[in-house]
Amino acid sequence: MSKLNWGMVGGGAGSQIGPAHRLGAGLDGAFAFAAGALDHVPDAGRAYAQSLGVAPDRAYGDWREMLEGERVRDDRVDLVTVATPNATHYEITKAFLEAGFHVLCEKPMTMTVEEGEEIVRIASATGRICAVNYGYTGYSLVRHMRAMVARGDLGRVRLVVAEFAHGHHANAADADNPRVRWRYDPAQAGVSAQFADCGIHALHMASFVTCQEVASLSADFASCVESRTLEDDAMVNFRMEGGAVGRLWTSSVAIGRQHGLTLQVFGEAGGLRWTQEQPNQLYWTPLGGRVQTIERGEAGLSPEADRASRVTIGHAEGMPLAFANIYADLAEVIRAAKEGRVPDPAADLYPRAEDGLRSMAAVHGAVASAGRQGAWVDARPPMFRAP
Ligand code: NAI
Repeated sequence: MSKLNWGMVGGGAGSQIGPAHRLGAGLDGAFAFAAGALDHVPDAGRAYAQSLGVAPDRAYGDWREMLEGERVRDDRVDLVTVATPNATHYEITKAFLEAGFHVLCEKPMTMTVEEGEEIVRIASATGRICAVNYGYTGYSLVRHMRAMVARGDLGRVRLVVAEFAHGHHANAADADNPRVRWRYDPAQAGVSAQFADCGIHALHMASFVTCQEVASLSADFASCVESRTLEDDAMVNFRMEGGAVGRLWTSSVAIGRQHGLTLQVFGEAGGLRWTQEQPNQLYWTPLGGRVQTIERGEAGLSPEADRASRVTIGHAEGMPLAFANIYADLAEVIRAAKEGRVPDPAADLYPRAEDGLRSMAAVHGAVASAGRQGAWVDARPPMFRAP
């Protein structure tokens, strides 16, 4: 089977997330890294792409040059990953979708709800995939949690508790460091800092696992480092369309916490607990029973979990493999479309533009709520509200 061609915008030398995408896209041999506009400095981007094996004529100086260069090629890229700073996602994603490319966009997909709705409309009108990289949903045991909820192991879900709390911006003396400061500056970060950066991962995870969307929320935002305009800590209560109650804590001042993404789901018949820093174990407690450890790779897991598991039980899998599962889903769906067949249903789990839009509605809803002493607000995008 020939490889699909993959291209990347952003993710240049020294970037945080670029290497994880390249590892993820390359893992299964489904994608060839064929083109890139990797850096905001054109010559640096061209040189870095070539150092990674991209042919000189496809190592572009900027994304517009890449769009023009790729659209006329017979072997144009099948998928473009957008891994640039947040404020550029909308413009770049929109342009590639409109030119007929499938896109995997980093989160947050857009800065506003209106832009999010526009991306959903364009993806629908063009029939192109617009995936959003909520990459932590790619973990095998996260997919197993979803399968357990869907097949009724927990009974009706009563409560979901999500956290994404780290301590890497806790040093008030370092708050003026330019690498940190922009994140809390509304001119560069938008309306929200910590909730838009990390909280939306946890909120999306809650929806992904429970198969319920967020309906309404109430938020309390705090700037624990006093010089900050935007929040570095948030507590968000939410209600889900299927009736589940949600609690979410996100923070960047939680000293001692590293990545700090956890999810707990409590139903009528049992509870689940998963921590991203130990992603190969899932803790399940049936009502009236003992805690059981479910190991990634063990026999008898769901097809969704099996599909997302690569190495034998007992050998740790981590974040680049979770990203690889998003790429594996996309490769399967793109290939199926080329071959005119129905994709494997277990691959139909990648997060998409609708999820990116829901996150943006939640961010703007949380900002509005926090500004009104935690008043409850509708967290659904206007286009998904009943007339
Ligand atoms: P970064 O600042 O470390 O790297 C950004 C890269 O994009 C740099 O190489 C820069 O030169 C390049 N760039 C900037 N503007 C560009 C343009 N117009 N055209 C081409 N390249 C351009 O940023 P980081 O931390 O890698 O974040 C990038 C995106 O990934 C952000 O939207 C962030 O929210 C997201 N992210 C997602 C994570 C996830 O778990 N899904 C984790 C970390 C970041």
